[in-house]
Amino acid sequence: MEFSVKSGSPEKQRSACIVVGVFEPRKLSPVAEQLDKVSDGYISNILRRGDLEGKPEQVLMLHNVPNTLCDRVLLVGCGKERDLGDAQYRKIIAKTITTLNDTGSMEAVCFLPELHVKGRDTHWKVRQAVEAAQETLYVFDQFKTKKDAARRPLRKLVFNVPTRRELSVGETAIAEGLAVATGVKLAKDLGNLPPNVCHPSYLADEAHRLSQAYESVKTTVYEEADMDALSMGSFLAVARGSEQPAKLILMEYKGGKPDEKPIVLVGKGLTFDSGGISIKPGEGMDEMKYDMGGAAGVFGTMKALAELKLPLNVIAAIGATENMPGGNAYRPGDILTSMSGQTIEVLNTDAEGRLVLCDVLTYVERFEPDVVIDLATLTGACVIALGAHASALYANHNPLAHDLLNAGEAACDRAWRMPMWDDYQEQLESPFADMANIGGRAAGSITAACFLGRFTKKYHWAHMDIAGTAWRSGGKQKGATGRPVPLLTQYLLDRSQGKH
Ligand code: BES
Ligand code: MN
Ligand code: ZN
Repeated sequence: MEFSVKSGSPEKQRSACIVVGVFEPRKLSPVAEQLDKVSDGYISNILRRGDLEGKPEQVLMLHNVPNTLCDRVLLVGCGKERDLGDAQYRKIIAKTITTLNDTGSMEAVCFLPELHVKGRDTHWKVRQAVEAAQETLYVFDQFKTKKDAARRPLRKLVFNVPTRRELSVGETAIAEGLAVATGVKLAKDLGNLPPNVCHPSYLADEAHRLSQAYESVKTTVYEEADMDALSMGSFLAVARGSEQPAKLILMEYKGGKPDEKPIVLVGKGLTFDSGGISIKPGEGMDEMKYDMGGAAGVFGTMKALAELKLPLNVIAAIGATENMPGGNAYRPGDILTSMSGQTIEVLNTDAEGRLVLCDVLTYVERFEPDVVIDLATLTGACVIALGAHASALYANHNPLAHDLLNAGEAACDRAWRMPMWDDYQEQLESPFADMANIGGRAAGSITAACFLGRFTKKYHWAHMDIAGTAWRSGGKQKGATGRPVPLLTQYLLDRSQGKH
């Protein structure tokens, strides 16, 4: 879809539709008020008859409103004026998009960015509108033989901003919103692909596609033999049960000064996690195709970054493999030697993510990173702790944690900090090796982070457990979310603007 900004009065818009807000109870937003005036009370009359209360996401389509130049006016309920916050604003935009798409307006001028949203400026409102619109229009139908496309889909959306001075702000906001949305879409597509298509080699090919599309991105893929030469005994143990060869995928984006230390993004890329010999129960096991959600988040962020051409150096490192049972699979009781030299007793082959990540985290030391941020659908316990609303954030460096939390707030993609005190470390003790790969039922997301913490002492590091946020489970709404691409892209934008 095409987005643009303008600044003008509602009655002068020659458009298929203009979109204005109405608050509860039947209170016109300033723009709706203006339309009401030029139309001699046409809108307020209709509201008085009780057709629209202004409750959140109610809509009413009007045709031929007197003294206007547009074909239609879409009134959108915005709820109580004082309650209009981030989530509500995004819902209103989503409702607007579905309504326009269903009712045949192929273009529209949307005045909703003029609404007052607590603590948010025009830049935020336009950017979020772009992201919410793209979110609403997303479909994953490449495996459906019959696709149900809208008859007259919305093609062009113009956002109206209050003053001409804000036009350039709006344009930047659109560019940023589109970049984030493109990254989110890539992350969603990769996540939603079935695991028989999206295997480690597919992810490696995806990395090559990205470097073909963007000159700024350079891709290198390491094979199992290379990983063997690097002594990645932990990562390779996980990969042993699978017929699909594991890949260590590197993407380097050089936009900063040559001597500037890179931001390193690490992703868990389990294209399918059966649990291995400690096999998972059958119910819902299909959702373990999403166990590459961390990798998908890294891909999406790299794409957004390349779109935005930010002046930063960023390196992505993805550990891609399946976790499968089989005659050659690793087993409970095995003791592995990680690339760091530390030994690990495997007590459960389903705690495989940390075994892959620990070697990748050791590997990236060679880049002398400014910071390392890993993304992983690491634990079911994280879903129990935080549900689907916030990603769990762990860090060994407070400023980095704060930057990421703030980026999440700004991007409507929140994270919540969790503790990583040494007290938890004893749960990982093993009688036979330097550590065990699980820490018992209590505090499962925390002990997983503490495990990773043993491999990240040489740099500033944050870990995001995105097990609850990377996809939605269950029925019709099932699908990847593209999180935390908005958070990470915001972090990179902030870094590039020298905010930290
Ligand atoms: N990929 C899973 C974590 C997961 C499970 C994410 C369910 C989202 C939903 C991970 O590899 C795993 O299996 N973790 C185990 C760890 C346990 C064996 C210590 C878990 O959470 O059950
Ligand atoms: Mn697992
Ligand atoms: Zn897993």
